Amino acid sequence: MEKIKETLNYLNAKIDNFNPEIAIILGSGLSVFCDNLKGKSIKYNDIPNFPHSSVSGHKGELLYCNIEGKNCAIMQGRFHYYEGYSLQDCTFAIKVLKMAGIKTLIITNAAGGINKNYNIGDIILIKDHINFMGTNPLIGKNNESLGERFPDMSNVYSLKLRETAKKCASEINMNLKEGVYLATTGPSYETAAEIKAFSILGADVVGMSSVPEAIVSNYLKMDTLAFSIVTNHATGISENKLSHKEVLETGKKASLKLSSLINKIIKNI
Ligand code: HPA
Repeated sequence: MEKIKETLNYLNAKIDNFNPEIAIILGSGLSVFCDNLKGKSIKYNDIPNFPHSSVSGHKGELLYCNIEGKNCAIMQGRFHYYEGYSLQDCTFAIKVLKMAGIKTLIITNAAGGINKNYNIGDIILIKDHINFMGTNPLIGKNNESLGERFPDMSNVYSLKLRETAKKCASEINMNLKEGVYLATTGPSYETAAEIKAFSILGADVVGMSSVPEAIVSNYLKMDTLAFSIVTNHATGISENKLSHKEVLETGKKASLKLSSLINKIIKNI
């Protein structure tokens, strides 16, 4: 709690009238979302208690700006378990944003498509997840002032917001598919046998992030919405070998589409 307050004090001192209501986490290669946005940005490395972002394709900045008349805090880049941070550190920023007044969190990520009906570049609205990381960001002593010890997980990805997202997508003629996201720790991509198993478990897309963030967001009672960009077919779904470079390039191309959808959703929140 002391650390959260210290970080929030820093942001309040750096940003005039810091009063965000919506937060957005941008995944690999999705920074183009911010290209035409003007606001105040602060490097993670300058923010006390923030881990340092180390993955290529992640900008590592917090941007405070206005979108469609709403104050938004945009995390350009996230923290991953595979970087060596604890899940508590990976999700620390979300607690700070909650204390800053955030009511809605929009999560984005790049993911591998397991569902054979998904094409590269598709945007998937996440309706549920499978935590395959073998750990949980809420492990440890619970601070009851933040959330309850055993949070319910039946509506992590807000049904109401998902309905809004679907309506907005149809208004811009976007074919928005819905699916289940499965999170691994990474950093190695999956084997073909793992992907086959994940498919049988009910996963449509696979990635190395987002689930810890969604667990904490739900714990903090924020409305959560999450999207995957299918940057590649998961291992064994097609013959191609996976590369981070390809993931970044495809993410960049599809992120324009996702940006217009998110803008529309924000207008309708
Ligand atoms: N697997 C895991 N994470 C990913 C993938 C994938 O195929 N694509 C983008 N992130």
